[in-house]
Amino acid sequence: MVTNMTNKSFGILIHGAGWVSAQHLAAYSANPNTEIIAISSRSVESAQRRANEAGLKDVATYDDLATALKHPGIDIVSICTPQHLHCQNVITAAQAGKHLVIEKPVANSLEELAQMQDAVNEAGVQTVVSFVLRWNPLFQELKRRIAHGDIGRPYYVEADYLSHNGSWWSGWNDARTVEQGGSAMLVGGCHAVDALRWFAAEGEFEAARPVEVFAVNGGYRKGSTREYNPIDNTWTQNAPPMEYDGLEVALVKFDNGAIGKISVNADCIMPYRFPVRIFGNRGTMFDQRVFCPGTAEQTAWTELSEIQPDSSDVSHHPFQGEIDHFVECLQTDRPSHCNLADAALTHEVVFAANQCYQTGQPCRIGR
Ligand SMILES: NC(=O)c1ccc[n+]([C@@H]2O[C@H](COP(=O)([O-])OP(=O)(O)OC[C@H]3O[C@@H](n4cnc5c(N)ncnc54)[C@H](OP(=O)(O)O)[C@@H]3O)[C@@H](O)[C@H]2O)c1
Repeated sequence: MVTNMTNKSFGILIHGAGWVSAQHLAAYSANPNTEIIAISSRSVESAQRRANEAGLKDVATYDDLATALKHPGIDIVSICTPQHLHCQNVITAAQAGKHLVIEKPVANSLEELAQMQDAVNEAGVQTVVSFVLRWNPLFQELKRRIAHGDIGRPYYVEADYLSHNGSWWSGWNDARTVEQGGSAMLVGGCHAVDALRWFAAEGEFEAARPVEVFAVNGGYRKGSTREYNPIDNTWTQNAPPMEYDGLEVALVKFDNGAIGKISVNADCIMPYRFPVRIFGNRGTMFDQRVFCPGTAEQTAWTELSEIQPDSSDVSHHPFQGEIDHFVECLQTDRPSHCNLADAALTHEVVFAANQCYQTGQPCRIGR
């Protein structure tokens, strides 16, 4: 039975006071059941700057996570540091008994994924991972229609993460390296893997379980110092280079029989786009267009008007939906559909793709 704890409020610590943290702060500020208590980062100055920009007074600031976790009243920690720090940050906060909002990518290896899941399970804390497009209005409407049966059973799904990531992003210097970023699919393309899993499952709050992956990588940008800025449409000739391939294409088989295809393209010269195509045995969805002749004697595409995922700016991303959802999960004592255990499956696809580049063979996932 679901426990009703509707009025419970939660104290918040934000760890990592960079670009994405501003959106976490805004979402918690707008949620009536959360109070931002503390911000920690590499330096107290940047934690304080973030607090000032958010108009927050009486917020404690720290330059160390372990110390910040001792501040009284903290229930939820948002991990907003660069990805190579997420594993240790999550373990430290889970061991302190805190619920966790974890920025993607959550881990840089299968070993990290396992360690994090062990720590979270042992501590009995709840998690949500910022695969934030699950709360994008168009994605929510498409998912509702799939769950309603409008296009029948999805048997083939495509998603493309098309983003010329580069120095326009404050996190790029961490994310562009093999050691800290890993791959284009891990850094940002994991959103496309998550979308594939989300739309390949029929349940409104269900993501499909991957069983096999085959991937190839290539493109032209790896190692290049020539970089395009899609935000202001300019070129730089001596940017710090991206150390991995910018183009990855992967086929994914799911345990429900559906097949998915993603491309991750950090080499593309164009503004950010995130197209999706979902083919069901009774209809089809192409981005915001839906065609399902069985349900409405339809002869033309229906155009949906919901907001599409067509901007890389975090202020456009639906963090409010994610945070409100997680608070409701905690209040009603039920796990998020987008928790660490679920996100681990998305990350397993990314790591399987890396294995394909080594072996040239398809890679099975799961036991
Ligand atoms: N879900 C999404 O759609 C989305 C969108 C954007 C980013 N992200 C993810 O969010 C994460 C952060 O990205 P971002 O864009 O916010 O990057 P960012 O602007 O570089 O911010 C990272 C912050 O982490 C802090 N930091 C770095 N090293 C630290 C350390 N050793 N200890 C404590 N704090 C440390 C930095 O602190 P100082 O300022 O104190 O130096 C910086 O403020 C990444 O994993 C990224 O992929 C997700």
